[in-house]
Amino acid sequence: MTGNQGIQLVDLDEDGVDRAFRADVLAGLKQAQKAIPARWLYDDAGSQLFEDITQVPEYYPTRAETEILETRGAEFAEAIGSGRAVVEFGSGSSVKTPLLLKAIDPGAYVPLDIAGDFLRASAAELSAKFPGLPVYPVEADFTRRVELPAEVADMPKLGFFSGSTIGNMVPRTAVDLLRSMRETLGTDAQLLIGMDLIKDKAVLEAAYDDAAGVTAQFNLNLLRRINRELDGTIPVEKFHHEARWNDTFARIEMHAVAEADVAFSVAGEDFAMQAGETIHTENSHKFDLRSANMLLLAGHWTPTARWTDEAGRFSVVLAKATIARAAP
Ligand code: AVI
Repeated sequence: MTGNQGIQLVDLDEDGVDRAFRADVLAGLKQAQKAIPARWLYDDAGSQLFEDITQVPEYYPTRAETEILETRGAEFAEAIGSGRAVVEFGSGSSVKTPLLLKAIDPGAYVPLDIAGDFLRASAAELSAKFPGLPVYPVEADFTRRVELPAEVADMPKLGFFSGSTIGNMVPRTAVDLLRSMRETLGTDAQLLIGMDLIKDKAVLEAAYDDAAGVTAQFNLNLLRRINRELDGTIPVEKFHHEARWNDTFARIEMHAVAEADVAFSVAGEDFAMQAGETIHTENSHKFDLRSANMLLLAGHWTPTARWTDEAGRFSVVLAKATIARAAP
C-alpha cells in the first residue's frame, strides 16, 4: 500500500537521481516556511512505515473505515446495485477492497496505479480471491483523466478511493483530482470515498504522533531519504517529529522541527535553519458533513449517502456524478 501517494513518473538524471524529487526538495527548502510535498514520504521504507502506522493503537482511520466496510455491506449493495465496474484509485488494500467487492457483486474490478509492480501484485492477489471476477489493472497517473479498458465501457462505474487520502491534498488539488475522477468514470458513475472526520484535537494529534514513535520514523525517513538520494548532510538526529492540529484549515500537519541551529547541504546547495524552525512534510485534512459535501460538490460529485463507524470517527461517502444543468 502506497497510501496512494506514489503518483510519480520517474525521470532519472545521468547519476540516477530522481529529477522531480530533487526539484521539489530544493524549491521547498528555499521557501520561508520550508515544505516538501507529502508524496515523497513513500519510498520503500516510507511505504512500509505507513503500513506499520495502520497497526498502531492511536491510528484509528484504517480500523474505523474497515469497520464500516465490514458492517454496512447490505446497505452498500442496496445503494450501489450490482454489475458495476469498480475502479479503484490506487492499488487497493488487501483488506478493504475484498470487503467492498464481496458486498456489491460487481461486474469487473479495475485498479489504477502508477506503481506497476505494486499494481500487478495486488491485482493478482485479488483475482485469486475472486476467481469469477474480471480484473483489468491499468498503470496510469489517475490525477489526469484515464482511458478505461474497452471491456468495461458499457458497465456503469463505481470509483473507490479509500483511506481519506483525499485529505492529504489541499482543497484546490483535491477538487482537481475529484474532477479528473469524474472525467475518468463518466456520467452514470458513483464514487465511494473515505473521509476522516474532525474530532478532539488530542485524539487527532495522538493518531499522528503515536507513543511507539512509528509516525515519527515515517516523517524523519523523508530527511534520511534526502540524505541518501540527494547527497544530503541533514543532521537528522537534530530534528524531531511534530504533529499539530491547524484549526483554521481543519488539518493535522506533520513537521520536522530543528532542535538547534543547523546547517547542511542538499544536492550541492547550502541551507541553514534556526532552532525551532520546521520543514512542513504533510497535511491531513479532516472533514465534517458540510465541508465534505462542499468539497465533493466542487469536484462535480453530488453526495447521496454517508456512513460512519460506531464511534463516529470516520465517514464513507457515496456520491453520484453531478449532471451539468442550469441552476442559480
Ligand atoms: C495516507 N494518508 C491517508 C495518511 C493520513 O492519515 O493522512 C498518511 C499518514 N500520515 C501520517 N500518518 C498517516
